[in-house]
Amino acid sequence: MLQRIVKPVLLLVLLVLTKCTYATEGMWLPQLLSGLNEKEMKGMGMKITAADIYNINKGSLKDAIVSFGGFCTAEVISEQGLLLTNHHCGYDAIQKHSSLQNNFLENGFWAKSAVEELPNPGLFATFIVRIDDVTKAALQDVKPGMSERERQSAIDKRLNEIKQAARRESWQEVMVKPFYEGNQYFLFVTETYRDVRLVGAPPSAIGKFGSDTDNWVWPRHTGDFSMFRIYAGKDGRPAPYSKDNVPLKPKYALTISLKGLKQNDFTMVLGFPGRTTEYLPSEGVKQTVEVLDAAKVQMRDAALKIMDGYMRKDEQIKIQYAAKYAGTANYWKKWMGEMQGVKQTRGIAKKLQYEDTYRRMMEANPKWKQSYSGILDSLNEYYRQIQPYAQTRDYYSELVKNVEIFTVGDRLINFLNDVHERGEGQYESMRQQFLESMQSFYQNYNASVDHDICASLIDLYAKGVPAPYAGNDFARIWQENNKDGRALADKLYAATSLTSPEKLKAFIQQPYNTVIAQMWSDPATRLVMATRKGFVDNVSKPLADIQANINNLQRTYMQAQMDVMGSKKNFYPDANSTLRVTYGKVDGYNPRDAVHYDFYTYLDGVMEKYIPGDYEFDVPARLIELYKKKDYGRYGVNGRMPVCFIASNHTTGGNSGSPALDAHGRLVGLNFDRTWEGTMSDINFDPSICRNIMVDIRYVLFVIDKYAGCNRLIQEMKII
Ligand code: ARG
Ligand code: ASP
Repeated sequence: MLQRIVKPVLLLVLLVLTKCTYATEGMWLPQLLSGLNEKEMKGMGMKITAADIYNINKGSLKDAIVSFGGFCTAEVISEQGLLLTNHHCGYDAIQKHSSLQNNFLENGFWAKSAVEELPNPGLFATFIVRIDDVTKAALQDVKPGMSERERQSAIDKRLNEIKQAARRESWQEVMVKPFYEGNQYFLFVTETYRDVRLVGAPPSAIGKFGSDTDNWVWPRHTGDFSMFRIYAGKDGRPAPYSKDNVPLKPKYALTISLKGLKQNDFTMVLGFPGRTTEYLPSEGVKQTVEVLDAAKVQMRDAALKIMDGYMRKDEQIKIQYAAKYAGTANYWKKWMGEMQGVKQTRGIAKKLQYEDTYRRMMEANPKWKQSYSGILDSLNEYYRQIQPYAQTRDYYSELVKNVEIFTVGDRLINFLNDVHERGEGQYESMRQQFLESMQSFYQNYNASVDHDICASLIDLYAKGVPAPYAGNDFARIWQENNKDGRALADKLYAATSLTSPEKLKAFIQQPYNTVIAQMWSDPATRLVMATRKGFVDNVSKPLADIQANINNLQRTYMQAQMDVMGSKKNFYPDANSTLRVTYGKVDGYNPRDAVHYDFYTYLDGVMEKYIPGDYEFDVPARLIELYKKKDYGRYGVNGRMPVCFIASNHTTGGNSGSPALDAHGRLVGLNFDRTWEGTMSDINFDPSICRNIMVDIRYVLFVIDKYAGCNRLIQEMKII
């Protein structure tokens, strides 16, 4: 009797305990999985081994993953070098091949045969051949008490030797990167292919469905994918573009599973996450969300409202500003989510609590106390010191990014500097080139929009930046305009030569010396130079000096955390655009009281969101037809078409296009976003609300096969 009761209770306790210790947080190094994570991964349901993921002796999962152009991830899904990535990762390439007659963004693109696959100069795909720990050699000349600069040059000297000595083939490359804030160094042998051709893309109404309104949002219904192919020389090695190149025979291609996932199923994501800051002290987290995010959001808020107002009234402006709007809105929305997420999960209080535990444990051990006492307090103190400078940096960078007259001003100044360096004799020929290079800028420029954004953002800048940091030249301009952004903008845009290619041309048509002399009298170049001078004279140096102190202490604090708290948790290095593995479970979440989100979306949801003719929520007629006929082929489940799903994988920017793999290492989805409530995962991952968003591979295949009828691509994949 007792037995029977105790056993289930014990089991339940065990279950709860193991569940709590699942650490879905972390972006792990693939070569270290066997020592650090394999056991836990298997406990969560993984059926393969760490050696199936990373193996230098035979093809393994990592050999199917590439850094796509350095900004996204893609994966090889056929023996002929076929690559899968996101629509938003392939967007530029698709756009460049588009014209009014052949609008691939609007209508989609499907190469009917190899000859129709389109080259993309500048685009590349990088494989990771091998990863070695070179920490010892890299740090061997580092001595206690070195300044940051001395330390770095001692390391750089060794890194050169390490790279020279690294074992590699002639066509391979080597790079070394710091991890754990510079406590460890790893060497990467890589292979980069530079002939990467566009193979297919759905129309934006599928690949970008929901656009900015749905961006960072769950429930999601976007078929965010596009396809490319890696071409190699006849010997299979990297080669510059040539029509004689052949499709790459990869070391490993992913197998695709149509089985789909259930709640709590194991998933992992392999990819190239860009940047996270998970080990900030509490002051750093507080500053990020309460000061820096807030400042950037405030600036972008104003700029976006103005763009939106014009775009709604004017079709031409809408075309000119759509991409800029989307670019600005992406992180604006992310930062708002981050601010809210940290607040909602009490992220700062949790950091303080963590710091308390750390302090107590550190002080209880004489050795640690001797090495680490006071580090955390100094680090927090430096964060307080850097605050006004960091805030000014962010106001300044948002000002010059969002007010486009600053872009023209900057380019003009750089051009005149170039002329100065190469000799005034070159002025005339360089002038022509410069004007041509400005054509594409002016094509998408509207001076009224820019005038309004300038008026508004200059006000915010002048209020947000302490006067001594903005500098005397800016103060003078500000005074002259009665501290009124609108007055400043009215005068500036009426008088400047920078608002149109014609005026710019007339301006620089004058002799070089006249132009130089007039730089301080044109109100736009004067404003550009004044704000830049304020920043350079008053902010750059103290900012860099305090940052160097922070980097130094952040490194010691990282080591301290690993020593002191290492028994409590495994530490993973912050993202730095190197190959990582993250794993989690398929699961919904509760974003707020009384609200629960499920983990799967279906094509029915696309139809619920459908707004005919809308630029974000229109649905192609052919998709509606397939939906009505329920013509899903082998990709549907019980008469429904799965579209997207979420899981607790820890991802960040750069993970877009990463494969989502099941317990057997088979491709089941394609990562492309995170949920809004969980975007604070970059500074404070919380498994309760942090979810990554993936498009289900069955939806991808359904679109290729049933929607686009591009069967030749399906044929070359390995589908089970
Ligand atoms: N939020 C995703 C990421 O950070 C997707 C961005 C592209 N999509 C968009 N609607 N702007 O990159
Ligand atoms: N959308 C992001 C990317 O493009 C992914 C993310 O931030 O979750 O990499």
